[in-house]
Amino acid sequence: MMSAQKVVVPLSAVLALVLLACVGYVFAPLHYFMLVILPYLCGVIFIAGFIYRIIRWAQSPVPFNIPTVCGQEESLHWIRQDKQGSPSNYLQLTWRMLLEIFFFRSLFRNSKTEQAGQGRLVYGGNQWLWLGSLAFHWSLFVIIFRHLRFFTEPVPALVIWLTELDGILQLAIPTLFITDFVILAALTYLFIRRVAFAQARFISLPSDYLALFLILGVALSGVLMRSIFRVDLVAVKDLALSIITFRPSLNLSGSVGLPFFIHLLLVCCLLAYFPFSKMMHAPGVFFSPTRNMLNDSRRKRHVNPWDRPVRVHTYAEYEDEFRVQMKKAGLPLEIDEAGNK
Ligand code: HEM
Repeated sequence: MMSAQKVVVPLSAVLALVLLACVGYVFAPLHYFMLVILPYLCGVIFIAGFIYRIIRWAQSPVPFNIPTVCGQEESLHWIRQDKQGSPSNYLQLTWRMLLEIFFFRSLFRNSKTEQAGQGRLVYGGNQWLWLGSLAFHWSLFVIIFRHLRFFTEPVPALVIWLTELDGILQLAIPTLFITDFVILAALTYLFIRRVAFAQARFISLPSDYLALFLILGVALSGVLMRSIFRVDLVAVKDLALSIITFRPSLNLSGSVGLPFFIHLLLVCCLLAYFPFSKMMHAPGVFFSPTRNMLNDSRRKRHVNPWDRPVRVHTYAEYEDEFRVQMKKAGLPLEIDEAGNK
């Protein structure tokens, strides 16, 4: 697929979804489907797909000890071990996993290699991707956490506190949150990086752009709802509470409005797509043997459970077989013809 097509096809798919949301909004008989059935359907696909993938991963055999190590392993007591780079007990491993999950440690160690002319290779750090990813994931987490205000009554104090903290800069009226700016900036960077850098462009697939555009669509529609096309938040909360408590009803205090239809349809599609996409890297990190295994292969012998007894031909047998020929060819022998070592 041409580079431009890789972008245009998923972009058109997301725009088509926006159009579908408009159709669903205009035709009142579709409201129940759009606001009730679709969220449940996509919620079920999300949960079932998620569990299915997790079970498949949990059942996958891990016959070899293959942690990714990047430092001195545990050895003699006078050789300093790199405890994060090469963990050999569960405490060290937990620490490494926490750094990976919360701060994307391995991405921070990302480096780039460039040709500097005359056959010279130059290695250097490249932390932009790390920064962009960290900014994106953390702001996404805070935004989703803040959304709990729509699904809870009374709203937990922690959600209120985080919402106030996020809006502390009072950016624009009504207050836009810090995370709104951060997520839009980070997503823009992640998109530009994919199209502007040849290597990233080459390995990018339409599915990568689809996930990006879906999330960008959700974030943009959310920000627009908050800043320009205000929606009836009480009606939204009525709907959200009715769905979460399994008493779905469109008997709302007001109309939720077109922007909310768009926001919700994109969220539903994102949810349904999630278990079948690369976004599953989020739970996947816990199941990655290169991340979750100890580097203890000096202390403990790891035996591949699938090993079958193999008929081997040892060097001693080989020498026995070819001793005369080896002697003639002047090759060194471990045991000579007289049986001496
Ligand atoms: C993947 C899930 C979701 C993401 C990433 C997301 C993202 C956003 C963002 C970035 C905003 C801008 C304002 C803010 O940051 O609060 C927003 C606003 C909003 N979202 Fe979502 N959203 C998600 C799911 C939902 C769901 C399931 C609902 C249904 C209740 C919803 C309802 C709203 C409403 C009503 C607003 C306007 C808030 C206001 O005006 O204060 N969102 N969303």
